[in-house]
Amino acid sequence: MPKVSHKGATMPQSPIRKLVPFAEAAKKNGVEVIHLNIGQPDIKTPKVALDAVRNNTLEVLEYSRSEGSEEYRQKLAGYYAKNDIHVNAHDIIITTGGSEALAFTMGSIMDTDDEIIVPEPFYANYNGFATAAGVKVVPVTSYIDSNFALPPIEEFEKRITPKTKAILICNPGNPTGYLYTKEEIKKLAAIVKRHDLFLVADEVYREFAYDGRQHYSILQEEGLEQHAIIVDSVSKRYSMCGARIGCLVTRNQEIIKTALKFAQARLSPPTFAQMASEAALETPQSYFDDVKEEYTQRRNLLVAELEKIEGVRIGNPQGAFYCIAELPIDDADHFAQWLLEDFRFEGETVMVAPAAGFYATEGLGKNQIRIAYVLDRESLKRAVNILKEALKSYTHSEAI
Ligand SMILES: Cc1ncc(COP(=O)(O)O)c(C=O)c1O
Repeated sequence: MPKVSHKGATMPQSPIRKLVPFAEAAKKNGVEVIHLNIGQPDIKTPKVALDAVRNNTLEVLEYSRSEGSEEYRQKLAGYYAKNDIHVNAHDIIITTGGSEALAFTMGSIMDTDDEIIVPEPFYANYNGFATAAGVKVVPVTSYIDSNFALPPIEEFEKRITPKTKAILICNPGNPTGYLYTKEEIKKLAAIVKRHDLFLVADEVYREFAYDGRQHYSILQEEGLEQHAIIVDSVSKRYSMCGARIGCLVTRNQEIIKTALKFAQARLSPPTFAQMASEAALETPQSYFDDVKEEYTQRRNLLVAELEKIEGVRIGNPQGAFYCIAELPIDDADHFAQWLLEDFRFEGETVMVAPAAGFYATEGLGKNQIRIAYVLDRESLKRAVNILKEALKSYTHSEAI
């Protein structure tokens, strides 16, 4: 039989989705599964965005330009200007989600066996994109004790080799909820300039910064014109994950020229979804204020409830809508599967994402899970209570 590629065989499964068959089986047996595992917000998509698709008068659903519609990119430059990020339409390539922006970025800056340094834990799909591009992820570990702040810059220095092409950060962080400070961004800026590397920032959660904190983009940092590339998306900003629209933004025209060739190969981003995304730019500020308030309250509730459980440790999430929780167990993969297969509390259970898949270093994160707080407060409270009850019977029945 012909064989699948080595690349395909080593492509990692998503730690967020790999337990889905167990959840489906539980649901078939009438169990209510509360999903803490996936970043699918329950917030309503702005009406202006949905109306743009509902009310359109298109007669032919054409391809758009490979770099995305001119009008949308012009308006998007206006969105960035409001966020104190000054770019032009020609600095933007519209992609099919932030996911494709990540793929284009890797394709445009890295060759096979090149290395990209990434603070871990990181968004698990970076491993998948790196595998697809034949690129090696070199992790620098960040720790729950320091709330997953940027590791000392010397740790990055130590890992730089002739094969290193870039440093990749996620800000605010999925799965950590950490928001990098201006000072941390400046440290990264200095190191990429010193070693002539790219600095890639996944800023898809830009709007989700809490407690009065301000997000500081790498594109606000002077002197990074040739180094900085951001990956962005409408998925979380407007709760429109299914639109599949994102973008790559850089002032480096060599990167734009290169990424455009990848964009041409896949022809164009989706036309309807670009219309929705363009209209979404009209979303009033009050929408974001309300959403931020809602997530802040969910975060507060989640942290307060988790802290009541003996043996559970968490950081202090400052942004995005995730947190890493350390549990008094030794194998979160087993625990997460056991929750779905064996544990029920009043007819319900919870689905969590084991954190090991968010680390590149073997053995790390085994006693951690990632929790996404994209549920209403009532469900979140129930979910944490289920987790508490589960930990009682797990530690008793499955002795660590
Ligand atoms: C950190 C991060 N980057 C990128 C993405 C990709 O998002 P999308 O392709 O929906 O824009 C996600 C999705 O969850 C994410 O969490």
